[in-house]
Amino acid sequence: MVILNDIYWGESAPVAKYDQHKFAEFAALSPRELEQECRDQHGRLKHIIRAEHFDLDFLRTICETADAARSVAKMEDKFMKSLLTAKSVLNYFKQPSSRTFLSFSMAEAHLGMRREEVRDLKTSSEVKGESEKDSLRTASSYFDAIVCRHPSDIYDLFAVWVMKSSNRELPFVNAGSGKSEHPTQAALDYYTDWRWFNGDLDNKVFAYVGDCKRGRTIHSGAKLMALHKDTTIYFVAPEELQIDPETERYLQERDAKVIKETNGLASVVPLAHKIYMTRIQDEHGGKAEYDPNFIFRKEFLATMRPDAILEHPMPKREEIDPAIDYIKDDPRIKHWEEQRNGMWGRVALLAYLFDADADIRCRYEKIKSIGAGLRDN
Ligand code: NCD
Repeated sequence: MVILNDIYWGESAPVAKYDQHKFAEFAALSPRELEQECRDQHGRLKHIIRAEHFDLDFLRTICETADAARSVAKMEDKFMKSLLTAKSVLNYFKQPSSRTFLSFSMAEAHLGMRREEVRDLKTSSEVKGESEKDSLRTASSYFDAIVCRHPSDIYDLFAVWVMKSSNRELPFVNAGSGKSEHPTQAALDYYTDWRWFNGDLDNKVFAYVGDCKRGRTIHSGAKLMALHKDTTIYFVAPEELQIDPETERYLQERDAKVIKETNGLASVVPLAHKIYMTRIQDEHGGKAEYDPNFIFRKEFLATMRPDAILEHPMPKREEIDPAIDYIKDDPRIKHWEEQRNGMWGRVALLAYLFDADADIRCRYEKIKSIGAGLRDN
Protein backbone atom coordinates (compact mmCIF):
# COMPACT_ATOMS: atom_id res chain seq x y z
CA MET A 1 0.00 0.00 0.00
CA VAL A 2 1.65 3.23 -1.15
CA ILE A 3 0.71 6.59 0.36
CA LEU A 4 2.72 9.68 -0.47
CA ASN A 5 1.67 13.28 0.20
CA ASP A 6 -1.60 11.93 1.64
CA ILE A 7 -2.47 10.45 -1.76
CA TYR A 8 -3.05 6.74 -2.17
CA TRP A 9 -1.08 5.44 -5.14
CA GLY A 10 -2.53 1.92 -5.07
CA GLU A 11 -1.43 -1.48 -3.82
CA SER A 12 1.31 -2.13 -6.34
CA ALA A 13 4.71 -0.59 -5.53
CA PRO A 14 6.05 -0.72 -9.15
CA VAL A 15 2.87 0.90 -10.56
CA ALA A 16 2.97 3.53 -7.82
CA LYS A 17 6.61 4.26 -8.62
CA TYR A 18 5.85 4.65 -12.31
CA ASP A 19 2.92 6.98 -11.68
CA GLN A 20 4.84 9.04 -9.17
CA HIS A 21 7.64 9.48 -11.65
CA LYS A 22 5.16 10.77 -14.29
CA PHE A 23 3.55 13.06 -11.72
CA ALA A 24 6.93 14.47 -10.67
CA GLU A 25 7.45 15.74 -14.25
CA PHE A 26 4.16 17.64 -14.06
CA ALA A 27 4.82 18.87 -10.52
CA ALA A 28 8.07 20.44 -11.76
CA LEU A 29 6.14 23.01 -13.81
CA SER A 30 6.76 26.59 -12.75
CA PRO A 31 3.81 28.43 -11.14
CA ARG A 32 3.34 30.30 -14.42
CA GLU A 33 3.31 27.12 -16.51
CA LEU A 34 0.83 25.53 -14.13
CA GLU A 35 -1.44 28.54 -14.44
CA GLN A 36 -1.30 28.21 -18.25
CA GLU A 37 -2.35 24.57 -17.90
CA CYS A 38 -5.38 25.76 -15.94
CA ARG A 39 -6.53 28.20 -18.64
CA ASP A 40 -8.14 27.57 -22.02
CA GLN A 41 -6.96 29.09 -25.30
CA HIS A 42 -8.98 32.26 -24.59
CA GLY A 43 -7.35 32.71 -21.19
CA ARG A 44 -10.42 31.65 -19.20
CA LEU A 45 -9.79 29.45 -16.19
CA LYS A 46 -10.85 25.89 -16.87
CA HIS A 47 -9.70 24.54 -13.52
CA ILE A 48 -10.27 26.37 -10.24
CA ILE A 49 -7.40 25.19 -8.08
CA ARG A 50 -5.53 28.13 -6.59
CA ALA A 51 -6.33 31.66 -5.43
CA GLU A 52 -3.17 32.89 -7.15
CA HIS A 53 -4.86 32.20 -10.51
CA PHE A 54 -7.58 34.76 -9.77
CA ASP A 55 -7.18 38.34 -10.88
CA LEU A 56 -9.34 41.39 -10.22
CA ASP A 57 -11.25 41.05 -13.51
CA PHE A 58 -12.11 37.45 -12.73
CA LEU A 59 -13.22 38.34 -9.20
CA ARG A 60 -15.40 41.19 -10.48
CA THR A 61 -16.99 38.78 -12.96
CA ILE A 62 -17.74 36.29 -10.17
CA CYS A 63 -19.14 38.95 -7.83
CA GLU A 64 -21.33 40.56 -10.50
CA THR A 65 -22.57 37.17 -11.67
CA ALA A 66 -23.35 36.10 -8.10
CA ASP A 67 -25.31 39.31 -7.51
CA ALA A 68 -27.17 38.88 -10.79
CA ALA A 69 -27.88 35.17 -10.14
CA ARG A 70 -29.53 35.73 -6.78
CA SER A 71 -31.88 38.31 -8.28
CA VAL A 72 -32.63 36.38 -11.47
CA ALA A 73 -33.35 33.21 -9.46
CA LYS A 74 -35.96 35.15 -7.54
CA MET A 75 -37.68 36.45 -10.66
CA GLU A 76 -37.02 33.75 -13.22
CA ASP A 77 -36.05 30.57 -11.50
CA LYS A 78 -36.94 28.57 -14.61
CA PHE A 79 -34.39 30.49 -16.66
CA MET A 80 -31.67 29.83 -14.07
CA LYS A 81 -32.52 26.15 -13.88
CA SER A 82 -32.45 25.82 -17.66
CA LEU A 83 -28.88 27.05 -17.98
CA LEU A 84 -26.85 23.91 -17.32
CA THR A 85 -29.37 21.06 -17.61
CA ALA A 86 -27.09 19.31 -20.09
CA LYS A 87 -24.18 19.31 -17.63
CA SER A 88 -23.38 16.93 -14.81
CA VAL A 89 -21.07 17.23 -11.85
CA LEU A 90 -19.59 14.91 -9.28
CA ASN A 91 -19.13 16.20 -5.74
CA TYR A 92 -16.21 14.09 -4.60
CA PHE A 93 -15.57 14.82 -0.94
CA LYS A 94 -12.77 12.82 0.63
CA GLN A 95 -12.70 14.94 3.78
CA PRO A 96 -15.57 16.00 6.04
CA SER A 97 -17.61 18.94 4.82
CA SER A 98 -20.99 20.44 5.61
CA ARG A 99 -21.33 23.89 4.09
CA THR A 100 -18.95 23.54 1.15
CA PHE A 101 -20.67 20.32 0.10
CA LEU A 102 -24.20 21.65 0.65
CA SER A 103 -23.58 25.02 -0.95
CA PHE A 104 -22.01 23.42 -4.04
CA SER A 105 -24.87 20.97 -4.24
CA MET A 106 -27.49 23.72 -4.02
CA ALA A 107 -25.54 25.94 -6.42
CA GLU A 108 -25.58 23.09 -8.94
CA ALA A 109 -29.35 22.67 -8.37
CA HIS A 110 -29.90 26.39 -9.01
CA LEU A 111 -28.25 25.93 -12.40
CA GLY A 112 -30.22 22.79 -13.23
CA MET A 113 -27.13 20.56 -13.22
CA ARG A 114 -27.32 16.82 -12.76
CA ARG A 115 -25.30 16.01 -9.66
CA GLU A 116 -23.97 12.96 -7.89
CA GLU A 117 -21.79 12.56 -4.83
CA VAL A 118 -19.09 10.29 -3.46
CA ARG A 119 -18.50 10.87 0.23
CA ASP A 120 -18.37 7.40 1.70
CA LEU A 121 -14.95 6.05 0.82
CA LYS A 122 -15.86 2.56 2.00
CA THR A 123 -17.94 2.29 -1.16
CA SER A 124 -14.97 3.23 -3.35
CA SER A 125 -12.78 0.85 -5.34
CA GLU A 126 -9.80 2.14 -3.39
CA VAL A 127 -10.69 -0.57 -0.86
CA LYS A 128 -9.82 -3.00 -3.69
CA GLY A 129 -6.43 -1.38 -4.18
CA GLU A 130 -7.31 1.03 -6.97
CA SER A 131 -5.08 4.09 -6.95
CA GLU A 132 -6.58 7.56 -6.46
CA LYS A 133 -5.35 8.38 -9.94
CA ASP A 134 -7.50 5.63 -11.43
CA SER A 135 -10.47 6.49 -9.17
CA LEU A 136 -10.41 10.11 -10.28
CA ARG A 137 -9.99 9.16 -13.91
CA THR A 138 -12.92 6.76 -13.62
CA ALA A 139 -15.06 9.50 -12.10
CA SER A 140 -14.07 11.81 -14.93
CA SER A 141 -15.49 9.34 -17.45
CA TYR A 142 -19.08 10.01 -16.39
CA PHE A 143 -19.30 13.73 -15.63
CA ASP A 144 -18.68 17.18 -17.04
CA ALA A 145 -16.97 18.59 -13.94
CA ILE A 146 -15.58 17.42 -10.63
CA VAL A 147 -15.70 19.33 -7.35
CA CYS A 148 -13.33 17.76 -4.87
CA ARG A 149 -12.16 18.13 -1.28
CA HIS A 150 -9.14 16.16 -0.17
CA PRO A 151 -6.74 15.97 2.79
CA SER A 152 -3.63 16.23 0.59
CA ASP A 153 -1.94 19.65 0.28
CA ILE A 154 -1.13 18.89 -3.35
CA TYR A 155 -4.36 17.27 -4.48
CA ASP A 156 -5.15 20.26 -6.71
CA LEU A 157 -1.96 19.71 -8.67
CA PHE A 158 -2.49 15.96 -8.69
CA ALA A 159 -6.05 16.32 -10.01
CA VAL A 160 -5.06 18.63 -12.85
CA TRP A 161 -2.31 16.17 -13.74
CA VAL A 162 -4.84 13.31 -13.82
CA MET A 163 -7.13 15.39 -16.05
CA LYS A 164 -4.23 16.21 -18.38
CA SER A 165 -3.13 12.57 -18.56
CA SER A 166 -6.50 11.54 -19.98
CA ASN A 167 -8.02 12.65 -23.25
CA ARG A 168 -11.17 13.72 -21.45
CA GLU A 169 -10.02 16.77 -19.49
CA LEU A 170 -12.87 18.17 -17.42
CA PRO A 171 -13.03 21.25 -15.24
CA PHE A 172 -11.70 20.45 -11.79
CA VAL A 173 -12.71 22.56 -8.79
CA ASN A 174 -10.65 22.45 -5.62
CA ALA A 175 -13.11 22.58 -2.70
CA GLY A 176 -10.26 22.46 -0.16
CA SER A 177 -6.92 20.69 -0.44
CA GLY A 178 -5.22 19.84 2.85
CA LYS A 179 -3.74 22.88 4.56
CA SER A 180 -2.80 24.61 1.36
CA GLU A 181 -5.73 26.09 -0.56
CA HIS A 182 -9.46 26.71 -0.51
CA PRO A 183 -9.95 29.00 -3.50
CA THR A 184 -13.74 28.86 -3.72
CA GLN A 185 -14.04 29.85 -0.05
CA ALA A 186 -11.65 32.72 -0.77
CA ALA A 187 -13.83 33.80 -3.68
CA LEU A 188 -16.99 33.77 -1.60
CA ASP A 189 -15.33 35.61 1.29
CA TYR A 190 -14.18 38.15 -1.28
CA TYR A 191 -17.75 38.38 -2.57
CA THR A 192 -18.91 39.18 0.98
CA ASP A 193 -16.25 41.93 1.22
CA TRP A 194 -17.11 43.23 -2.25
CA ARG A 195 -20.80 43.61 -1.38
CA TRP A 196 -20.07 45.37 1.88
CA PHE A 197 -17.46 47.75 0.47
CA ASN A 198 -19.30 48.27 -2.86
CA GLY A 199 -16.38 46.83 -4.77
CA ASP A 200 -13.86 49.28 -3.24
CA LEU A 201 -11.26 47.07 -1.59
CA ASP A 202 -8.15 49.21 -2.12
CA ASN A 203 -6.43 50.83 0.81
CA LYS A 204 -7.79 48.48 3.45
CA VAL A 205 -6.56 46.66 6.53
CA PHE A 206 -7.47 42.97 6.81
CA ALA A 207 -6.95 40.90 9.94
CA TYR A 208 -6.75 37.10 9.76
CA VAL A 209 -7.08 35.53 13.18
CA GLY A 210 -6.64 32.02 14.59
CA ASP A 211 -4.80 29.24 12.79
CA CYS A 212 -2.90 31.26 10.20
CA LYS A 213 -0.36 28.49 9.78
CA ARG A 214 -2.70 25.68 8.73
CA GLY A 215 -5.88 27.50 7.74
CA ARG A 216 -6.33 26.99 4.00
CA THR A 217 -9.08 29.63 3.90
CA ILE A 218 -6.53 32.16 5.18
CA HIS A 219 -3.83 31.07 2.72
CA SER A 220 -6.18 31.51 -0.23
CA GLY A 221 -8.08 34.53 1.10
CA ALA A 222 -5.07 36.71 1.96
CA LYS A 223 -3.70 36.23 -1.57
CA LEU A 224 -6.83 37.81 -3.02
CA MET A 225 -6.56 40.84 -0.77
CA ALA A 226 -2.98 41.37 -1.99
CA LEU A 227 -4.36 42.02 -5.49
CA HIS A 228 -5.54 45.39 -4.20
CA LYS A 229 -3.59 48.60 -3.78
CA ASP A 230 -2.21 49.64 -0.40
CA THR A 231 -3.26 46.51 1.42
CA THR A 232 -2.20 45.83 4.99
CA ILE A 233 -2.64 42.32 6.31
CA TYR A 234 -2.43 41.45 9.99
CA PHE A 235 -1.96 37.83 10.98
CA VAL A 236 -3.20 37.63 14.53
CA ALA A 237 -2.12 34.37 16.13
CA PRO A 238 0.27 33.01 18.74
CA GLU A 239 3.77 32.37 17.44
CA GLU A 240 3.14 28.63 16.86
CA LEU A 241 0.13 29.33 14.63
CA GLN A 242 1.61 32.25 12.72
CA ILE A 243 1.50 32.53 8.94
CA ASP A 244 3.84 30.25 7.02
CA PRO A 245 6.89 31.85 5.32
CA GLU A 246 5.73 30.96 1.76
CA THR A 247 2.41 32.79 2.10
CA GLU A 248 4.11 35.72 3.82
CA ARG A 249 6.66 35.99 1.00
CA TYR A 250 3.95 35.73 -1.66
CA LEU A 251 2.06 38.65 -0.10
CA GLN A 252 5.13 40.81 0.36
CA GLU A 253 6.22 40.23 -3.23
CA ARG A 254 2.87 41.71 -4.23
CA ASP A 255 3.45 44.77 -2.07
CA ALA A 256 1.05 43.93 0.72
CA LYS A 257 2.24 45.11 4.11
CA VAL A 258 2.33 42.07 6.40
CA ILE A 259 2.21 42.50 10.19
CA LYS A 260 2.29 39.57 12.62
CA GLU A 261 0.53 40.18 15.92
CA THR A 262 1.24 37.51 18.50
CA ASN A 263 -0.13 39.10 21.70
CA GLY A 264 -3.83 39.13 21.02
CA LEU A 265 -6.69 40.54 18.97
CA ALA A 266 -7.74 43.59 21.05
CA SER A 267 -5.18 46.05 19.64
CA VAL A 268 -5.94 45.13 16.00
CA VAL A 269 -9.75 45.35 16.19
CA PRO A 270 -9.98 49.19 15.86
CA LEU A 271 -7.63 49.19 12.84
CA ALA A 272 -9.17 46.50 10.65
CA HIS A 273 -11.75 46.77 7.86
CA LYS A 274 -12.24 43.02 8.04
CA ILE A 275 -11.69 40.66 10.94
CA TYR A 276 -11.57 37.08 9.70
CA MET A 277 -11.78 34.53 12.49
CA THR A 278 -10.81 30.86 12.10
CA ARG A 279 -10.78 27.78 14.30
CA ILE A 280 -7.69 25.79 15.25
CA GLN A 281 -7.18 23.16 12.56
CA ASP A 282 -6.33 20.41 15.02
CA GLU A 283 -7.14 17.65 12.55
CA HIS A 284 -3.54 18.29 11.45
CA GLY A 285 -2.23 17.59 14.96
CA GLY A 286 -1.27 19.68 18.00
CA LYS A 287 -3.31 21.06 20.82
CA ALA A 288 -6.86 22.23 20.27
CA GLU A 289 -6.96 24.82 23.04
CA TYR A 290 -7.75 28.32 21.85
CA ASP A 291 -5.87 31.14 23.57
CA PRO A 292 -8.56 33.51 25.00
CA ASN A 293 -6.54 36.56 23.87
CA PHE A 294 -7.49 35.69 20.31
CA ILE A 295 -11.24 35.37 20.91
CA PHE A 296 -13.48 37.98 19.29
CA ARG A 297 -15.33 39.24 22.35
CA LYS A 298 -18.68 41.00 22.26
CA GLU A 299 -17.08 44.19 23.67
CA PHE A 300 -14.97 44.43 20.52
CA LEU A 301 -18.04 45.53 18.59
CA ALA A 302 -17.67 48.88 20.35
CA THR A 303 -14.05 49.37 19.24
CA MET A 304 -14.52 47.93 15.75
CA ARG A 305 -14.72 50.48 12.92
CA PRO A 306 -18.31 51.30 11.90
CA ASP A 307 -17.48 50.23 8.33
CA ALA A 308 -15.68 46.99 9.25
CA ILE A 309 -16.94 43.42 8.96
CA LEU A 310 -16.56 40.28 11.00
CA GLU A 311 -16.24 37.05 9.01
CA HIS A 312 -15.61 33.37 9.68
CA PRO A 313 -15.51 30.55 7.10
CA MET A 314 -17.11 28.23 9.71
CA PRO A 315 -17.29 25.82 11.42
CA LYS A 316 -16.62 27.84 14.56
CA ARG A 317 -15.92 26.85 18.11
CA GLU A 318 -15.00 29.24 20.93
CA GLU A 319 -13.14 31.84 18.83
CA ILE A 320 -16.22 34.08 18.53
CA ASP A 321 -18.08 35.07 21.69
CA PRO A 322 -21.36 33.08 21.60
CA ALA A 323 -23.30 36.27 22.48
CA ILE A 324 -22.50 37.59 18.98
CA ASP A 325 -24.82 35.02 17.39
CA TYR A 326 -27.84 36.56 19.11
CA ILE A 327 -27.25 40.11 17.87
CA LYS A 328 -29.52 40.83 14.95
CA ASP A 329 -29.12 44.57 14.50
CA ASP A 330 -25.40 44.87 13.71
CA PRO A 331 -24.86 44.44 9.96
CA ARG A 332 -21.10 44.18 10.46
CA ILE A 333 -21.53 40.62 11.75
CA LYS A 334 -21.30 38.64 8.55
CA HIS A 335 -20.44 35.02 9.27
CA TRP A 336 -23.97 33.70 8.69
CA GLU A 337 -24.68 35.82 5.65
CA GLU A 338 -21.29 34.70 4.32
CA GLN A 339 -22.62 31.14 4.06
CA ARG A 340 -25.53 32.16 1.88
CA ASN A 341 -23.19 34.34 -0.19
CA GLY A 342 -21.15 31.17 -0.59
CA MET A 343 -23.92 29.39 -2.40
CA TRP A 344 -24.39 32.29 -4.84
CA GLY A 345 -20.64 32.66 -5.25
CA ARG A 346 -20.50 28.99 -6.23
CA VAL A 347 -23.37 29.45 -8.67
CA ALA A 348 -21.24 32.14 -10.30
CA LEU A 349 -18.09 29.97 -10.35
CA LEU A 350 -19.88 27.02 -11.94
CA ALA A 351 -21.67 29.27 -14.44
CA TYR A 352 -18.28 30.78 -15.34
CA LEU A 353 -16.70 27.34 -15.87
CA PHE A 354 -19.46 26.45 -18.34
CA ASP A 355 -19.52 29.86 -19.99
CA ALA A 356 -23.01 30.71 -18.74
CA ASP A 357 -22.04 33.66 -16.53
CA ALA A 358 -22.65 36.29 -19.22
CA ASP A 359 -26.16 34.84 -19.82
CA ILE A 360 -27.00 35.40 -16.16
CA ARG A 361 -25.71 38.97 -16.17
CA CYS A 362 -27.52 39.79 -19.44
CA ARG A 363 -30.77 38.36 -18.10
CA TYR A 364 -30.38 40.47 -15.00
CA GLU A 365 -29.84 43.63 -17.06
CA LYS A 366 -32.92 42.78 -19.12
CA ILE A 367 -35.10 42.26 -16.06
CA LYS A 368 -33.78 45.51 -14.60
CA SER A 369 -34.53 47.40 -17.80
CA ILE A 370 -38.17 46.32 -17.79
CA GLY A 371 -38.34 47.49 -14.19
CA ALA A 372 -39.33 44.23 -12.56
CA GLY A 373 -39.15 44.33 -8.76
CA LEU A 374 -35.80 42.68 -8.10
CA ARG A 375 -35.01 41.48 -4.64
CA ASP A 376 -32.04 39.80 -3.10
CA ASN A 377 -32.46 36.12 -2.50
C1 NCD B 1 -13.11 25.60 6.18
C2 NCD B 1 -12.28 24.48 5.60
O1 NCD B 1 -12.77 23.38 5.41
O2 NCD B 1 -11.13 24.76 5.34
N1 NCD B 1 -14.49 25.33 6.18
C3 NCD B 1 -15.21 25.62 5.05
O3 NCD B 1 -14.98 25.08 4.00
N2 NCD B 1 -16.14 26.56 5.16
C4 NCD B 1 -12.63 26.08 7.49
C5 NCD B 1 -12.46 25.09 8.62
O4 NCD B 1 -12.72 23.91 8.48
O5 NCD B 1 -12.08 25.56 9.69
